[in-house]
Amino acid sequence: MRTAALALGIALLTGAVSARAETPQVDYLLQCQGCHRADGGDTPGSVPALRDFIGRFLGVPGGREYLIRVPGSAQSPLDDAELAAVLNWMIEQFGPAEVSASFMPFTAEEVARVRTPPLTDVEGVRSDLLSRMSAARTLPAD
Ligand code: HEC
Repeated sequence: MRTAALALGIALLTGAVSARAETPQVDYLLQCQGCHRADGGDTPGSVPALRDFIGRFLGVPGGREYLIRVPGSAQSPLDDAELAAVLNWMIEQFGPAEVSASFMPFTAEEVARVRTPPLTDVEGVRSDLLSRMSAARTLPAD
């Protein structure tokens, strides 16, 4: 009896995970949250915060492409439409809030066009973008 219930539980779980009609939240939870946390917070020394930060990349040249090409995005098992939806959800969820007004949502076509080739110098590209943000004074001066 217990074994049957367990088998049913596993079947349900497996079915839920393999069905490709996930919402962006579920895709985030399954594919991204392990590193990026439920609230988009950082893990000091290894994973930067998305919260109140991810949207800032949209304000500098190359930043939008970076969000698609960063390995966590580009190399995820999500297809182009799913990745576009997760990125849109992340921007909306983690902000900063003022981004949403002018934000043009990511589309599957854009993701398909930009996703490859892989970024080879992630750290270098990221730090250039951060310098552009400070130069544009989009970073809070602290
Ligand atoms: C194994 C850990 C890990 C997983 C899983 C992961 N990421 Fe990341 N992510 C990182 C790290 C580390 C960075 C910082 C850039 C780098 O070194 O790749 C990052 C950076 C990012 C950035 C740019 C933010 C910044 O400040 O550089 C985006 C956008 C992003 N990830 C999206 C995603 C998405 C979407 C998923 C899920 C589909 C995902 N990540 C899954 C570790 C991860």
